[in-house]
Amino acid sequence: MTFDHTDTMPTGDAMDEAGTMVTMENAFNERKTIGMNGSGFIEMLARQMTADLQAQRDVIPAGASAALSTKGISFGTLVHNSDGSWNTSKVQGIPAPSLTSSKTSPPSLIIRPFHQVGNVISVRQFTNNAFNHHHGIQSEDRFGLGTDQDGDGFANELTAADITAATLFQIAMNVPGRVIPRDAAVQGAIASGERLFGSVGCTTCHVPALPLASDNNPGAPGKPGWMYTEPGPYNPVIGSNAPNLIPGPVNYPVSAPPLVIDLTSDRLPQPRLKAVAGIVWVPAYTDLKLHNLCDGPNDPNAEPLDQNQPAGSAGFFAGNQQFITRKLWGLYNQGPFGHSGKFTTMREAINLGHNGEATMARLAFQALPAPQQDTVIEFLKSLQILPPGTPCRVVDERNNCREGEENDARNQR
Ligand code: HEC
Repeated sequence: MTFDHTDTMPTGDAMDEAGTMVTMENAFNERKTIGMNGSGFIEMLARQMTADLQAQRDVIPAGASAALSTKGISFGTLVHNSDGSWNTSKVQGIPAPSLTSSKTSPPSLIIRPFHQVGNVISVRQFTNNAFNHHHGIQSEDRFGLGTDQDGDGFANELTAADITAATLFQIAMNVPGRVIPRDAAVQGAIASGERLFGSVGCTTCHVPALPLASDNNPGAPGKPGWMYTEPGPYNPVIGSNAPNLIPGPVNYPVSAPPLVIDLTSDRLPQPRLKAVAGIVWVPAYTDLKLHNLCDGPNDPNAEPLDQNQPAGSAGFFAGNQQFITRKLWGLYNQGPFGHSGKFTTMREAINLGHNGEATMARLAFQALPAPQQDTVIEFLKSLQILPPGTPCRVVDERNNCREGEENDARNQR
């Protein structure tokens, strides 16, 4: 942005959607890039959670209410008013775009696992967004055929197949693992830090692992939850503000029969998660839920814009204090930390980035003697993205597999 006040084109270089000249502080939300490793498993978890929540919603008679919960995570209470409309004011942790409703259409309750404020439903949607926003390249499944949306003289810049390929590259990436050195002192510190991470309350949001079940696959009914389908069943459709290819008959570039990929296959980049007793445990340390991590709008971590509200609306300019619980798998390789990347160390992210709902856990962490705080950091440091091709998910400091650990319940989870 130039902040050139002679440029009066809205959302150009100096003026916002409301026609107000902007400053560095209120023009945008700062964003750090995060890793896509394991993103296929994350999307499939979110699809199962959405299916569960929608099934719970669909059996609430008018005039009644019900608690929403999936995979042990509570999402508050949904009220179905006696006149047929819905009251979502007691629903928790689900982003605003999934809560809009009317008498004829209930809230979608779609879990949006991507974007740091939980705004995006699928890797495909993110990919369509990013090619456009970050690279100025418009895809056919987002913008249709023959349109030159950005006036650069080119139409049909990316095919739906291009977007499918870019999506599959990301969802098939190797999953993060753990590095646990054989040195007894380091190993002991990691184990103790992992216990403390639970006992001070970090795991209320950073849930160590979520189960991908074998009997729930809304994109491929009857197939286990680790059979990824592209395009996904909950993609925003034509008519929404961010359409994508959806599953259906061949109707280019609107719908296509889904491709099915076994996320646990040995033919995909290693390491991978495997099904054990009919469940794939996904150890991502998140609940895929939004939490308010700020002490009010003046908290240094609050954002100037709320991207879950329509651009330019009053709610959009009211700002945002809610963030999706960051996945901590692969944390070691993904600094700097926090949504804006302003924390250089993990310790800063804990101490300076956990207000609001996370205050109790943060205070409990800060009340630990310094050596015990250090063990929590040692535990977090063990959560690493392993070199591509590593055949197992738990290795020592020389990247040798730690035999037996893979089937150890603690490491499965
Ligand atoms: C109330 C829910 C909640 C609790 C409790 C919580 N966290 Fe978090 N944590 C979050 C959210 C949400 C984020 C993402 C913040 C953001 O986007 O800026 C996060 C981010 C982090 C990050 C930064 C990750 C990154 O890649 O940037 C670390 C490290 C972290 N948490 C560790 C902890 C530890 C350690 C504890 C316990 C002392 C804890 N958290 C307790 C919700 C929570």
